[in-house]
Amino acid sequence: MDESSALVGKEKFFDSDTIIISKTDLSGKITYVNNNFLQMTGYKESEVIGRPHSIVRHSQMPRSIFALLWSTIKEKHEIFIYLVSKCKNNDYYWAKANIVPTFNAKNELIAYHCERYAPDKKIIDRHILPLYNELLAIEKNYTNSKEGMLAAIKHIQNILAQNNVNYDEYISSLAA
Ligand SMILES: Cc1cc2nc3c(=O)[nH]c(=O)nc-3n(C[C@H](O)[C@H](O)[C@H](O)COP(=O)(O)O)c2cc1C
Repeated sequence: MDESSALVGKEKFFDSDTIIISKTDLSGKITYVNNNFLQMTGYKESEVIGRPHSIVRHSQMPRSIFALLWSTIKEKHEIFIYLVSKCKNNDYYWAKANIVPTFNAKNELIAYHCERYAPDKKIIDRHILPLYNELLAIEKNYTNSKEGMLAAIKHIQNILAQNNVNYDEYISSLAA
């Protein structure tokens, strides 16, 4: 792992009964965060509302996972991803995030909602970090970032095909 993908800063943890919530508009700009989000990240509400959610992006997150996230929620489906995010002071925290599309009364997509739960650290260490390091390595192998992302998505699809599962089944099958 090179420096750009190293987990710098201090890892932070949160309780299993705490839910860290944020909401975005359709373009990923933050429209709402709960107090747990502010406490965990060290931001003030005024510093995050209206900003792209990528302000908390951590370099350990593969682009391919975000591509999968966006292609899924734009299709009006929810998704679970393991997510490491940066705090204001460069500390970081892992979460199991459920990102859900929000609809109006006409069933039109109007926003997105993310709930982050305390993850099982053993699943992160045993499955997610190795997977994300593989994806980052594939992504960095290409000078064209889009080609790298597509190659990493193909790698995820191969893993799913080998295990004969879809992405949701794969995520929920991970055991410590
Ligand atoms: C509701 C919602 C919540 C999100 N929460 C996070 C988050 O906590 N951390 C993060 O890095 N990206 C989060 N994202 C994804 C970002 O919008 C963005 O795709 C990601 O940070 C990658 O940014 P980039 O493509 O500009 O590098 C969220 C997206 C949505 C729709």
